[in-house]
Amino acid sequence: MPIRLDERLTAAANLAAGGATVCDVGCDHGKLACYMVQTGRAERAIATDISAPSLKKAERLAEELGLTDLVETRVGDGLDPVADGEADVVVLAGMGGDLIARILERACAQGKRFSRFVLSPNTHPERAREAAGAAGHRIVADIAAECAGKYYPVISTKAGGAEKLSRSELLFGRFFAEDEDFPVRASRELSELENTLKQNPSASGLAERKALLEEALKECAK
Ligand SMILES: C[S@@+](CC[C@H](N)C(=O)[O-])C[C@H]1O[C@@H](n2cnc3c(N)ncnc32)[C@H](O)[C@@H]1O
Repeated sequence: MPIRLDERLTAAANLAAGGATVCDVGCDHGKLACYMVQTGRAERAIATDISAPSLKKAERLAEELGLTDLVETRVGDGLDPVADGEADVVVLAGMGGDLIARILERACAQGKRFSRFVLSPNTHPERAREAAGAAGHRIVADIAAECAGKYYPVISTKAGGAEKLSRSELLFGRFFAEDEDFPVRASRELSELENTLKQNPSASGLAERKALLEEALKECAK
């Protein structure tokens, strides 16, 4: 049975393709790890999760698909169950940017190095981009995957040549200024923010977000 992924995980799988071993940290259902090997995007996968019941789901899926030889599951916090360089590409998706940053920082402090990361934070993408840079990685692709009416950042990085990003690049994507869809997304978010602010002018953080979006839109127009 072929696995179907939503647009967010499909984007992550496409960006993670090409390494022999992929590691999916926080794999939960295990769909990404199974899809990677089932479609030949990776030869083998290590699927990890801090939650044993979540990992069970991944194990069951690998079993159902006859992929147990190719998808290895390991329980543990972040990259703790993975050795230095053991995977060619590490995927961290569907977690908050703060958690992704903490996992990358901890792995770095443990002396673990990986050639590529694919990060899809569901909050605070700026923290994930910043942590990838601190781990010595540069961003090589940074897209917004539309899934069920929401946009999710999917960020691909490679070791070496880390760059200092501007505040707008950290918040809205390394290539936001060249992305012709960014003004459309930003304008949509701005009008939603304006409606919310009309009803609740003191809503926390919204006026600041509005100012940041307006600043980024001005940078695009330059
Ligand atoms: C919302 S699910 C995302 C599943 C999948 N990666 C996706 O994008 O659809 C988040 C998963 O991360 C796991 N998780 C949370 N903190 C973790 C940590 N410190 N280390 C490993 N996994 C963690 C949770 O147990 C959960 O299964």
